[in-house]
Amino acid sequence: MEGQPFAGARNSPLPEAHCPGHTPPVLHQLLEKRFREAVLALLPDADTRSLLVRPCPDPKFGDYQTNALMAVAKQRKLNPRQLATDVLAKLDVGEWCEKVEIAGAGFLNFRLKPDALCGALQSAARGEHLFFEKSAQPRTIVIDFSSPNVAKPMHVGHIRSTVLGDCLARTLRLLGHRVVTDNHIGDWGTQFGMLLVGWKRELDRGGLAADPIGEMERLYKKLSAECKLNPATLEASREELVKLQAGDPGNLAIWREMQSLSQAQFDTLYTRLGVKFDHALGESFYNQRLPAIVEDLRQRGIARESEGAVCVFSDGTLPPKDDPFLINRDGEWVPNPALIQKSDGGFNYTTTDLATLAYRLETWTPAEIIYVTDGRQQLHFTQFFSIYRRWHPDSTVKLAHVWFGSILGEDGKPFKTRSGDTVKLADLLDEAEERAFQVVSDKSAGLSESDRREIARVVGLGAVKYADLLPNRQSDYTFSWDKLLALNGNTAPYLQYAYARIRSLLRKAGVAPVDPSLLVPAAPEEMALARQLLNFGIVLEAVADEYRPNFLCNYLYELSGHFARFYENCPVLKAEGAVRASRLGLSDLTGRVLKQGLELLGIETLEQM
Ligand code: ARG
Repeated sequence: MEGQPFAGARNSPLPEAHCPGHTPPVLHQLLEKRFREAVLALLPDADTRSLLVRPCPDPKFGDYQTNALMAVAKQRKLNPRQLATDVLAKLDVGEWCEKVEIAGAGFLNFRLKPDALCGALQSAARGEHLFFEKSAQPRTIVIDFSSPNVAKPMHVGHIRSTVLGDCLARTLRLLGHRVVTDNHIGDWGTQFGMLLVGWKRELDRGGLAADPIGEMERLYKKLSAECKLNPATLEASREELVKLQAGDPGNLAIWREMQSLSQAQFDTLYTRLGVKFDHALGESFYNQRLPAIVEDLRQRGIARESEGAVCVFSDGTLPPKDDPFLINRDGEWVPNPALIQKSDGGFNYTTTDLATLAYRLETWTPAEIIYVTDGRQQLHFTQFFSIYRRWHPDSTVKLAHVWFGSILGEDGKPFKTRSGDTVKLADLLDEAEERAFQVVSDKSAGLSESDRREIARVVGLGAVKYADLLPNRQSDYTFSWDKLLALNGNTAPYLQYAYARIRSLLRKAGVAPVDPSLLVPAAPEEMALARQLLNFGIVLEAVADEYRPNFLCNYLYELSGHFARFYENCPVLKAEGAVRASRLGLSDLTGRVLKQGLELLGIETLEQM
């Protein structure tokens, strides 16, 4: 402990009055609330939503900061520094802040009282909160994610939707919202015409028993190639599809078999990934509702016939560059309608999505619906949302398309197997576990094989999920085994090891639980770690507001970095008395936040690795 700044002063606990321990969990929310009140006192019509208080990027200037007044001043043609001065005069945060300063062009920097920081840590240590608060206005939110297709293997693209959607569901639930997850399985559509022809003509029963998805995929590929060359096959597929749609018992039975074989595959993968759905209402569930939707849209003049099909065109209310129903061809804006009924009477993806939306609103009355798919569906969702708005102009439901980029191989091209096929999810997960097993065996050769297998399962699956969640979801990312399994760097294995190390530290200390009132950070590394813990709630809100799990990944990585610096500079086991207790308490809180954070990412932790 010699040479530790600040540490010597704290061999006995600080008097209770110094660290009252009554500070509510989420300090930034309290500051934000008072800040909004101060602004409203001056400008009663101000829009408080943009009045945010956030962690200060440089602790030199303070613990929290707001830049919101500059925008307000600009909007109202006020002098920003003057506005900041006036707001400061009305601001009542003396309970928690030792000072608030105006900086730069009109920033406010808040510096916490040590008591406030320490009070929040102590109340967390007492189990009253974990640095976040449940929403004061819980909402019902439907999340449509994963949504693979029947008779096709789930591939690496589906993992991104599954992992992102699952993380958003977990986070929104933790924040107190009522979340309904619904897997919108692609179990209907033209592909079944071809599949039926293939199934009847040349199904290999043995192949189907051995590898159902492989066999159905083989039939589909064969038939879709044949349909392109042979009009008779195309016609046969069309007829089988019409029979299926008309309820032909034989075709329905085959379709059901394809569905249940696929569902079994999906279920195996979901169990392995630890992902659950409240509902899995596939596209076929909405069949009965489609004709009435098309009829209604026609009657309201939103849809009209065009070349035998029924389409929705631009209503001319948007500038052409923002209009999803127009497209620029050679410098000219031409119609780009959304099809809702084909000329042969069949319905489209958009029609089903409209029916699905209507059903969800009737059934769960959500305030928001989130759709997680890849970026290539952006046009579909903008058109579909826009049709819905024209159809129900009074609806207040928030619709969000949360899209993501592609996964690339190390050659910069779409991620494929050596033979050029799309990578199947099951194979990817197998490989992850196998590679993690090598890493674990190198590192912990002394453990039994079954222990190493279990660690490899948790590490391998965690690594793949984390690799999907860490990049900004809208950019493409390069899949690299070495990178995602690295024990050093921003990876799941690194965070899982950090957690296991904290747990082993606490086991060695052997005093659980420590007295919360002894938790008093003093050294700069302890203060920095404490501030990072306090930011957990802000990060969770940002993940939920912007649908960006990468914020949480980066937060946890930084938290581990703060912990490492703390651990390097502030001896824990060798410290004594109150200092030891305080440091153990901080370590325990860090472990709890890490575990909770990883759990939100859908990543398991181990007590020992
Ligand atoms: N089945 C579709 C696909 O694999 C995704 C469905 C997304 N959800 C929706 N409501 N459209 O691309």
